[in-house]
Amino acid sequence: MEVVRVQAIATTISNKIDTIPFEFIRPVTEQPALTTFTGPVPEIPTIDLSDPNTDNLVHTIAKISSEWGLFQVVNHGVPVDVIKRLQSVGKEFFELPQEEKEVYARPPNAMSLEGYGTKLQKEVAGKKAWVDYLFHNVWPPSHVNYKFWPKNPSSYREANEEYAQCLREVVDKLLVLLSLGLGLEGNVMREAFGGDDLEYLLKINYYPPCPRPDLALGVAPHTDMSALTILVPNEVPGLQVFKDDHWFDAKYIPNALIVHIGDQVEILSNGKYKSVYHRAIVNKDRVRISWPVFCSPPQDMVVGPLPQLVNEENPAKYKTKKYKDYEYCKLNKLPQ
Ligand code: OGA
Ligand code: NI
Repeated sequence: MEVVRVQAIATTISNKIDTIPFEFIRPVTEQPALTTFTGPVPEIPTIDLSDPNTDNLVHTIAKISSEWGLFQVVNHGVPVDVIKRLQSVGKEFFELPQEEKEVYARPPNAMSLEGYGTKLQKEVAGKKAWVDYLFHNVWPPSHVNYKFWPKNPSSYREANEEYAQCLREVVDKLLVLLSLGLGLEGNVMREAFGGDDLEYLLKINYYPPCPRPDLALGVAPHTDMSALTILVPNEVPGLQVFKDDHWFDAKYIPNALIVHIGDQVEILSNGKYKSVYHRAIVNKDRVRISWPVFCSPPQDMVVGPLPQLVNEENPAKYKTKKYKDYEYCKLNKLPQ
């Protein structure tokens, strides 16, 4: 059966028609217009990664990772033009004619998430998300399958490889800071997630303009199953974070990276750091695009609360299991 892309639906709906297909209309408990917090908004914290005061950095990141599970980083060392190139080649790919994009379509029932696609998870009540996406691994080289990397634009590969290289340094630095924040040696977290074998999966989310952004969602509420997710947004805001029973907007900070604590960091830290519950809303007139990279342990890596953090007063709050088993349960909505 031919999959209908959201981008195609969006272009066929006339702007004058103020409606969207039924399967995109969220229940009232999820509709952004009814559930977004509108009072004075607590700012999602921003961290200057070039702060020479390491103790301060460690303390701040640890606190925010326990309270929010999400923060923006500036002065992260990824050059502005590297981010710009990543964005421009990704945007160009989604602006190609539909049949050119379909060359990269994710094969139905494939084990891997890689490829161009429209729907990953079966959602509650069969509701659909207003988004198309492209997934492909960017690191380590042994996991890269260029079959899923667009050939057009021709600089797609170079731009993505350049970004992945820069991103690895940021992730290594964050893992050191997060380890130190637990009172552990700096290398503990990185090693627990496989060291150089940590896997980087890039996703491009393409959210077409939506005639009823008040009723639809780009991405339904979820936590990421990764260790960390580092996201580059475009200038159209849409990411929302759930905290203290409310949905808050993440504001757009040019050239910042948005760091999500994922499930594996929560598990390893035995709950000290929180995997952030988040969702994405869409825009009436403008295309929103985001580039999250999910950094996850290798499939066979066993992840559980670090023994150093567990004792009689603090028993393990999570099961210890292979990452691939965690992933299987998460994708199929089975209990962990
Ligand atoms: C995701 C996600 C948020 C965004 O793809 O997992 O949470 O801002 N995206 O696009
Ligand atoms: Ni996410």
